[in-house]
Amino acid sequence: MRLFEVKATSFRELRRKVGALPFELYIADGADVGFQVKCSRSRLSHEGAVEEHLGRSIAARLGMFGVKVEFPVADATQTVHVRITDDVCRFSLDTTGTPLYLRGRKPNAASATLRETTAASILKAAGWPGFDILIDPMCGAGTFTLEALEMASGRLPNVERGFPFTDWPAFRPKAYAHLKEKMIEEAAAAGRKTRVLAFDLDPEAVETTRRNLAVAGLPTDHVSVEAGDFTDPLTLPGFESIPASARALLVLNPPYGKRLAGGNPKQLYRRIGEAIRNHFHGSYAVIVPGLEIEKALSVPRDGKILFQNGGLRVAAIFHAEPDEQDDPEPGA
Ligand SMILES: C[S@@+](CC[C@H](N)C(=O)[O-])C[C@H]1O[C@@H](n2cnc3c(N)ncnc32)[C@H](O)[C@@H]1O
Repeated sequence: MRLFEVKATSFRELRRKVGALPFELYIADGADVGFQVKCSRSRLSHEGAVEEHLGRSIAARLGMFGVKVEFPVADATQTVHVRITDDVCRFSLDTTGTPLYLRGRKPNAASATLRETTAASILKAAGWPGFDILIDPMCGAGTFTLEALEMASGRLPNVERGFPFTDWPAFRPKAYAHLKEKMIEEAAAAGRKTRVLAFDLDPEAVETTRRNLAVAGLPTDHVSVEAGDFTDPLTLPGFESIPASARALLVLNPPYGKRLAGGNPKQLYRRIGEAIRNHFHGSYAVIVPGLEIEKALSVPRDGKILFQNGGLRVAAIFHAEPDEQDDPEPGA
């Protein structure tokens, strides 16, 4: 969370200005605080010295409010990020601690797994859990499958974990409890009965997804995970028997870049595009690494979200198949 910004070209100016910032709203008595300092293109360029001066002035400020802290500690539970660029010093607080994508329920990773938060965002953007079936034909370690199941079961991830921000003196526990309760209720109301069909070409990935499902503690009665080749979808167990009337969402995170191990990404995406156009009639979300590959995929899209995945700029393209009920009456 961005907090404050001050301009300083000397340590004296930095100490004076930082001493006037209300850190007492965010740092509690006895907190374990650490700094992450980065300086670039600035008169104040020695990160260690900046940290020392900041520590002293913030401690002096907090002392006026009877708050005692030791700066800086190694395993801090509250990190203050400090970026000095072009002599402007910006302070942010880590609100979260352990990253949100670590859900604590997927011990086995295949290579090139998506972050859980990325998978959940793509599913949400595609309208999940408002479908009858999820098809995850390149499931890897099962990230889409696990996130989708959690949403469909009406639960929220990480709901029991703690966050550094709940220790801040400015934290309002009643407002937070109210918001949290509302989110829990909304998630429960959105839950619905769904089927999940997951596949992967690699039998090891199939085993990994099965193991991850087994330890996740999510309902798996309507989930199947099988080996199969999505570029030949009619051979996928259960694919052909998806009723035409079912609302189906297909999510795809095909391999690309280094993960393709010498393969030709355009050729793979061309074949994936053919499989979607010829054999699938529902909604979909597909991760594509760049415009050239998107052209090779050549499927209709209604939306596109750009993001970074494993340091690469990629996009998720979306198509939402209209509900049959949404179609106007013929001749209307
Ligand atoms: C980038 S990984 C998917 C990672 C997954 N989203 C996760 O978070 O774990 C791509 C997966 O596609 C699988 N794959 C590649 N070609 C395939 C094909 N023709 N049919 C099915 N799976 C395929 C690979 O074995 C690999 O597990």
